[in-house]
Amino acid sequence: MPKLNENYLNVQDSYLFAEIARRVKVYEETHPDKAQNIIRLGIGDVTRPLTKSAIEALHEAVDMQAVPETFKGYGPEQGYEFARQAVAGYYAKNGVHVDADDVFISDGAKSDTGNITELFAQDNVILVPDPVYPVYVDTNTMDGKQILYMNGTEENNFLPMPDDSVKADIIYLCSPNNPTGACYNKEQLKAWVEYALKNEAVILFDSAYEAFVSEPELPRSIYAVEGAEKCAIEFCSLSKTAGFTGTRFSYTVVPKALVFTASNGRQMSIRDMWNRRQSTKFNGTPYIIQHAAAKVLSDAGMKECMENISYYMENARLIADTLRRKHISFTGGVNSPYIWFKCPDGMESWDFFDYLLENAQVVGTPGAGFGVNGKNHFRLTSFGTHEKTKEAMERFEKLFS
Ligand code: MLT
Repeated sequence: MPKLNENYLNVQDSYLFAEIARRVKVYEETHPDKAQNIIRLGIGDVTRPLTKSAIEALHEAVDMQAVPETFKGYGPEQGYEFARQAVAGYYAKNGVHVDADDVFISDGAKSDTGNITELFAQDNVILVPDPVYPVYVDTNTMDGKQILYMNGTEENNFLPMPDDSVKADIIYLCSPNNPTGACYNKEQLKAWVEYALKNEAVILFDSAYEAFVSEPELPRSIYAVEGAEKCAIEFCSLSKTAGFTGTRFSYTVVPKALVFTASNGRQMSIRDMWNRRQSTKFNGTPYIIQHAAAKVLSDAGMKECMENISYYMENARLIADTLRRKHISFTGGVNSPYIWFKCPDGMESWDFFDYLLENAQVVGTPGAGFGVNGKNHFRLTSFGTHEKTKEAMERFEKLFS
């Protein structure tokens, strides 16, 4: 009989968004007359189709696969050079330098943030904000790693800062934050980089929502801070930027300056370790997708993406205006597609989830799914259509009138 990884006994029975989908399905089955009315503002999945240039590039790449001269089989596990260059070029346009050969193309920031834990030993101290994107917690729990939490609360605007009395080895940061929508400024990120350098810690920085930053002085990458290349890995993707949630393209930057000493005294490059891991366990993102992603990352491609992002941010404004009228305090919605608010009447978030589904047929995400500090909070996404978002807010307003 195999010995099981019993760390799985310590993870929640199901992943947050799977649990939400299960509950909504039960509601649909028990209320068939209301099923058609359901408006989904729970999981952050996009509703706008792919942009014109993405579609054209996809068609072009499919046609290339049809002829021997341009057909591609296995590609480099790290990604094609043209795609890595396109990512480095995109960073450069935002004023940040990354080396193309430190860029690793993948199929999702979710898989890379989960898989990176393999590079780090069991007895590291992992520091995670609460509330937090559940993948960081679940994957470290599956590994049996020890997690310390830092509180994100209304008092610190859901932006926990380093505490010198805590000695962490690995720190997860997400900015703009999922789920709270809060965004670190440069001074705050600088404090994190200084902490990491002083403690020889690694920051795992999730910048999946960087394209939603609307205030120009806010950093869109940890590498906007000097020295970050010596302590930080950054994860990003086109899922939300370009509507690639179903198309799948992400990139992870592992700078060559990230070097630590192994117990035998050998200097180990994290970049080389990740390269080694990916070349054994990953066969690369499909050529067709990389071809389209490179087009998306060009100036013309990104212009179209920004039109979609403006569309979503209009929804965010609509949600924020509704909450303001109801005097419900919230964060997010300005530099982020997520709006994070306090459940009305002191309700707990799963109760509020049921209440909203039952009485308004609106699906959101209960804050408790992101950690104990989310117990009385709720997240709505602006990735719906205008029509559905407007309708959801009208129902919300009526329910709390
Ligand atoms: C979310 O709703 O938090 C995201 O869509 C989940 C993800 O990106 O994996």
